[in-house]
Amino acid sequence: MKRNESFKKLSEDDLSYFKSVLAPHSITQDEEDLEAFNTDWLRKYKGQSKLVLKPSSTEQVSKILKYCNDNKLAVVPQGGNTGLVGGSVPVFDEIIISMSNMSSIRKFDNVSGALVLPDGTILDNLSTLRKDNTGYDLKQIFVGSEGTLGIVTGVSFLAPKKSKAVNVALLGLNSYDHVQAAFKRSKEELSEVLSAFEFWDQDALKLVKDHLAAGANDPLQSTYPFYVLIETSGSNKDHDDEKLNNFLERLLTDNITQDGVVAQDTTQLRNLWAIREGIPVACLHDGAVYKYDISIPVPVIYQAVEELRKRLLDRGVLGEGKLFTSVIGYGHIGDGNLHLTLAAKEFCEEATDLIEPYIFEWTAKHAGSISAEHGLGICKNNFLSYSKSSSMIQLMKRFKQLLDPNGIMNPYKFLPDN
Ligand code: MLT
Ligand code: ZN
Repeated sequence: MKRNESFKKLSEDDLSYFKSVLAPHSITQDEEDLEAFNTDWLRKYKGQSKLVLKPSSTEQVSKILKYCNDNKLAVVPQGGNTGLVGGSVPVFDEIIISMSNMSSIRKFDNVSGALVLPDGTILDNLSTLRKDNTGYDLKQIFVGSEGTLGIVTGVSFLAPKKSKAVNVALLGLNSYDHVQAAFKRSKEELSEVLSAFEFWDQDALKLVKDHLAAGANDPLQSTYPFYVLIETSGSNKDHDDEKLNNFLERLLTDNITQDGVVAQDTTQLRNLWAIREGIPVACLHDGAVYKYDISIPVPVIYQAVEELRKRLLDRGVLGEGKLFTSVIGYGHIGDGNLHLTLAAKEFCEEATDLIEPYIFEWTAKHAGSISAEHGLGICKNNFLSYSKSSSMIQLMKRFKQLLDPNGIMNPYKFLPDN
């Protein structure tokens, strides 16, 4: 990929302007400090930005964007830089606009949102109305647009009341069919209090045990091919306890689960979640991480893992000392969302070509989406046609052209190059 030479390179004049808008501590130019802003969470992508700006108000964001747009300086909006598709780091020398100074809570209310456009226009979409059916719902076009249309400087969301009673159970199961049977039962029997149904396979647990303290939290008697974490959230503890315990007992009696425990206190509850949440962190210890975040119908979720594993085994590239050391599956069964994750010796073309576009074709064939929740970034922008029709992609490109005619917002990402 080549730098788009229509973008201006940063000059002393530009720096003087930014210094007139921001306080000195809100401007980062130090090489060492820039490293963390230029590198993504998976350590797969690395940009070469020479400047990070940290505005602390909507007005400052507006001034910066207006200047960048007028001068054709490309920018990358960056939040926590925890993105998993290379969307939050520069590709070349784009200026990083870090939102780290805009994290204050303005007020508690059930409101909507506020946007900024690349030309500096401020769209105030903050509203206290629950219903507002006037005109197009413009904020929705910015949701999930990965900083390619504007910068969201404030959001409002309806925060549900914290549940009075939360329970978590961990199950060990012998097959993915059993995972599905438990899921079906949980919807029938836990219904209104079911708040999470997560799964992972034994190789995922092994990674957590090998690399993280949370690995010691596994309370089950033995190892199992699959694990399920079920969370219930309700308002009546006795009622929920009884429901979950009865549910678990029936699963054990019917041989759907081989083993199961219910957390007895908040510490145990957190420890069980720590196993699940430790999986993506543990993967980072195992080499170069290739991540595929796909939405597919629940019955074929694990087939994706098995078929990819077989493909790599057949080619002799999976196993200890080989190009790939592991292929694991975990994710949100309740959302039909698989995180298919591979550890490789290194990021290289050979490894990438063994997985892509195979996995995207597989996903499209099974009526899935190539990105369930992680987005497109630079990782998947050129594979968008596996999930969206050409007329939809054309319309997206027209929106982009309309709102960002100079293409300065997070370039090289999100939409296909051609
Ligand atoms: C998760 O479910 O843990 C997140 O989406 C992050 C990840 O998959 O790595
Ligand atoms: Zn996830």
